[in-house]
Amino acid sequence: RADADETAGSRHLVVVSNREPYQHHYEDDGSIGVEEPVGGLTAGLDPVLRKTRGDWVAWGDGDADAVVTDDEDCVAVPPGDERYTLRRVWLTDDEVSGYYYGYSNRVLWPLCHDLVDRIEMEPAYWDTYKSVNESFGRAAAERATEDSTVWIQDYHFCLAPKTIRESLPTGANMVQFWHIPWPAWDTFRVVPHPEELIEGLLANDVVGFHVERYRDNFLECAAQLDGTDVDREAGIVRIDGREVRVGAFPMGVDAERIESIADGFGRDDWVGLAERYGIDPDTRIAVGVDRIDYTKGIPHRIDALETFWETHPEWRGELTFVQKSSHSRSQIPAYQEIAEDVCEAVRRVNERFGTDEWTPIVHVDDYLSQRELFGLYRHSDVALVSPLRDGMNLVAKEYVAAQVEEDGVLLLSEFAGAHEQMDEAVHINPYSPDGFAESIHDALTMPAGERRRRMRSLRDHVREDDLDAWVADLLEAAGLTATERLLAGGQ
Ligand code: G6P
Repeated sequence: RADADETAGSRHLVVVSNREPYQHHYEDDGSIGVEEPVGGLTAGLDPVLRKTRGDWVAWGDGDADAVVTDDEDCVAVPPGDERYTLRRVWLTDDEVSGYYYGYSNRVLWPLCHDLVDRIEMEPAYWDTYKSVNESFGRAAAERATEDSTVWIQDYHFCLAPKTIRESLPTGANMVQFWHIPWPAWDTFRVVPHPEELIEGLLANDVVGFHVERYRDNFLECAAQLDGTDVDREAGIVRIDGREVRVGAFPMGVDAERIESIADGFGRDDWVGLAERYGIDPDTRIAVGVDRIDYTKGIPHRIDALETFWETHPEWRGELTFVQKSSHSRSQIPAYQEIAEDVCEAVRRVNERFGTDEWTPIVHVDDYLSQRELFGLYRHSDVALVSPLRDGMNLVAKEYVAAQVEEDGVLLLSEFAGAHEQMDEAVHINPYSPDGFAESIHDALTMPAGERRRRMRSLRDHVREDDLDAWVADLLEAAGLTATERLLAGGQ
């Protein structure tokens, strides 16, 4: 298998993402401070960009006037050890509300998670999405040459690839990864501009999804467009005399790093953390870790726990559930509502079953360091990963990577992309509180031998298909198309 740094190293890399890897802001004393990536994609790609000395184009979400160089759009990062260029795209408040809060997160996000009733459509969203995509496309094209690979991330940028292709006619190599699900055509065509969105994505050389089902759904959608020829078997769409490869590239996590951080968080550290939040460390622990979002099924999970303590009273006082939440998109009313629903559900269950000595559900919604988070995973007997729909869900993989004692049990929703890869998890349907509650009981009473066997097999998989392998596979797919193009040009 190719190494990510080697694969990337042969070409200049331009990453395009909505979130920036380093965010600049003013400190209280007026100096400029920088927030570093804490996890997920930005933390994963940062080392690749450091090695390739490439460019990263992202929404300048910090203080817009906290600029660090004469060229206010670009800044060398990481601070103090400058290796690559961060090109910020500055957006006005109207642009942020139309492109980010509007079309990206009120239209495409619910659409792709099959929650069409949650779509809120305003004509201005689409216009702003289009113009912001053009700005990102132009910024990426400025940083790229025909020898670059441009790697675009996610649903914020369906249309940017078209601008890049038009700006660089000799063509950089373009690959886009879609981090969320892709629905069937019957769902996708609910939006007024389905063809334009699909055509935009088909300006890439490679379009990647987490799992085969999303890939197949996308191919089905591409087949609806006039002028496309789709080979579903090979995953190829022919359009405008070009070939676009469409593939499944399941994303992984940096398993080695997570394991080593979790390994350093021993029992004493755990007891300290538990005491800080009023968790009784002598009970068994179940954990849930989510961004507060209506796709994550947190109220459904709490309903299942309520059913569990109702039907299995022997676990009252014996199992504590820790829900770690983080917040984003809070300007959108649906996100404010779901945050309130979660707090209300926690209150309800705690009032019903809590005692002076025991809080059934501990809701942690302040910041935890990676050390504390991975430590929490390590010391949890069960993880409840129960989204209603999720592109992949990396929490499932992080939990497994942090399980250094190899004796925890992962409960995983059938509706997460990760479900298709993680056979040894206990599979649950988040819509069925009774079945979900029984699975919690089964997990807690599972014999140690079976727990270890399942966890070892999951860990082997998570180590093998890690973040580095994902980067390498995608860039290799992009590299192949570059070679093919050169060969074709030389004939
Ligand atoms: C999902 C998306 C990412 C996004 C993340 C957090 O995982 O696929 O692109 O960055 O959610 O959402 P936010 O809107 O806070 O960036």
